[in-house]
Amino acid sequence: MGFRDDFFWGGVTASYQIEGAAYKDGKGLSVWDMFCKQEGRIADGRNGDVACDHYHLYQKDVDLMREIGFNAYRFSISWPRVIPDGYGAVNEKGLDFYDRLLDSLLEAGMTPFVTLFHWDYPYALFRRGGWMNPDSPKWFAEYAAVLAKRLGDRMKYIMTFNEPQCFIGLGYDEAVHAPGIRFPIWDTLLMAHNVLLAHGLAIQVLRAELPESELGWAPTCSAHYPETESPEDIEAARMAFFDIDPERSFWNVTLWNDPIFLGEYPKKIFDLYGEHMPEIKPDDMETISQPLDFLGQNIYNGHAIRSDGKGGYEFVQRKPGYPYTGAKWPVTPKSLYWGPKFLAERYKSPIFITENGVSCPDVVSLDGKVHDPDRIDFLHRYLLELRRAADDGVDIRGYLHWCVTDNFEWAKGFTERFGLIYCDFETQERILKDSAYWFRETIRANGNNL
Ligand code: FCB
Repeated sequence: MGFRDDFFWGGVTASYQIEGAAYKDGKGLSVWDMFCKQEGRIADGRNGDVACDHYHLYQKDVDLMREIGFNAYRFSISWPRVIPDGYGAVNEKGLDFYDRLLDSLLEAGMTPFVTLFHWDYPYALFRRGGWMNPDSPKWFAEYAAVLAKRLGDRMKYIMTFNEPQCFIGLGYDEAVHAPGIRFPIWDTLLMAHNVLLAHGLAIQVLRAELPESELGWAPTCSAHYPETESPEDIEAARMAFFDIDPERSFWNVTLWNDPIFLGEYPKKIFDLYGEHMPEIKPDDMETISQPLDFLGQNIYNGHAIRSDGKGGYEFVQRKPGYPYTGAKWPVTPKSLYWGPKFLAERYKSPIFITENGVSCPDVVSLDGKVHDPDRIDFLHRYLLELRRAADDGVDIRGYLHWCVTDNFEWAKGFTERFGLIYCDFETQERILKDSAYWFRETIRANGNNL
């Protein structure tokens, strides 16, 4: 069976990681602009002021993506570039940039997948309490309305948020991402609730303005998988996949997806934090659970799980020498089979893999090329598992690879290279890596060559 004939193959980026032009053409500040100014926050002390200079070089990047054969490209819009204060006055020059980009993508035959928010929160709103402010859902919905009016005719697929697990969990709980301030659980739960409300309000706006567009969102997860395919291990993996670990309260699937797709918070969140949960107003859950057209799921890895023989689950210890990526993330191809399968079962939604990829210590070799066999092997293994899920009837609509060009990898700065395209950050030269050519062949064959 394999992948559908109209399968989407493409790449993904995020505004702050590639655009640069951080102080250009009226853009406002984001929490990432300010976080990078603090000593000790970014591994190599760098920032995204220039990054891949995509703001100026976008046409070159579109041409390269066309060369790889993408029929889809997922990117995010910088909220403070469009509305410098996050709320109120609109920056036309910022909108002009996305206008040009969208036209150029359509011209190159790529379907745009637009993420409204991939972490670069307007600093002006942060100063007004950010996601704790009761108006914060409304601010986001108004931003969505501005985009819908000016760019909506070309925003075919739209995702409200990228990885709330990270911008709330890593930003305000673990405090390793912007703004990097640790808040108590009652405040972070309130932020989560406001993010969910913001999502729901924005979906209402987009649905009304853009009846032709497909709407979804793009959370992440640890896609745990069963050690063996015994019914006990499968059930144990399912349990682990949807569980909430109080050691990392925001890094889970159900706190985020259950309200949106099932219209209720998971019971475990009340078991853990009942007394700290924010007030849930009568209409809130209905606002949050607006029907969506798809679930965009980011999946990088997970953990092997087995039954503990007592109706629970346990993590299977990895063997010495287990393969890890450049980012020290485990290589777990089965995540791309079991992740979509478990998610489709629970949420009954079509699924796009909206991120998956690998950091490798890529270098330009003497022959001027970038040989990245590990990335090819990673892709090959993961895509085989994804195809198996499609063969089993999971409704998978596309695979979008993180990332297009190497870029500014958040708190890791420029120390990680995730791209299919090598980027020299001094000269802005781009070189297609071997994996880009391999991916091109795979796209041409719609995955039947795997
Ligand atoms: C994801 C982020 C993306 C990038 C990859 C490596 O969590 O969404 O921006 O950093 O990880």
